[in-house]
Amino acid sequence: MELFVDSADIKEIEEAVSWGVVTGCTTNPTLVSTQGKVDFKGHIQRICEIVQGPVSAEVVSLDAEGMIKEAREIATWSPHVVIKIPMTWEGVKATKALSREGIKTNVTLVFSPNQALLAGLAGATYVSPFLGRLDDVGHDGMAVVAEIVEVYRKSGIATKVLAASIRHPLHVVQAAKIGADVATVPFKVLKQMVKHPLTDVGIERFLADWKKVTG
Ligand code: E4P
Repeated sequence: MELFVDSADIKEIEEAVSWGVVTGCTTNPTLVSTQGKVDFKGHIQRICEIVQGPVSAEVVSLDAEGMIKEAREIATWSPHVVIKIPMTWEGVKATKALSREGIKTNVTLVFSPNQALLAGLAGATYVSPFLGRLDDVGHDGMAVVAEIVEVYRKSGIATKVLAASIRHPLHVVQAAKIGADVATVPFKVLKQMVKHPLTDVGIERFLADWKKVTG
């Protein structure tokens, strides 16, 4: 499973990419809004330069024609850009048209296997089930991700399952075990993934013992 950083914060993205294990980035209008008033195009292009891998940028139109127009423009910003399209019938139509043009898409706001099936049949590059938001309303988000993985494998759909709305490190390992292709992880959770108290205690002890060797 690949790891993407779920952020629009340049400093966070730079640090996450510097670790060498984060291969993509996802943004959405809410994440971009945390950066204040930004030049959206310039911001996405900067993220693409840093990541040198897939970077999702979302359209805001609600009709297929508008989505396609926005997507065609955003796709010229960088070869790394992936267009995020919301899961509606208009979004399905836009995804199909963009896939015919070879423009990469990430169908977002997916909460059920049926929605994911439609995204897959429309030729989406990625599908983003929001597992944390499902958990928030008392559903089992990870079970939905597992169903999507199964539906895609059995239907021969090549769309990559991108586990999104990750809330904690356990979500990441569960997504990997289930067979998600990618997890997009908030910076804070990425940082938590490396931590283990026994590692810290172990390093302290090794350093203390090494002092006995070196004086
Ligand atoms: C990523 O593509 C999604 O937009 C993001 O993971 C949503 O996360 P949230 O539910 O924490 O807002």
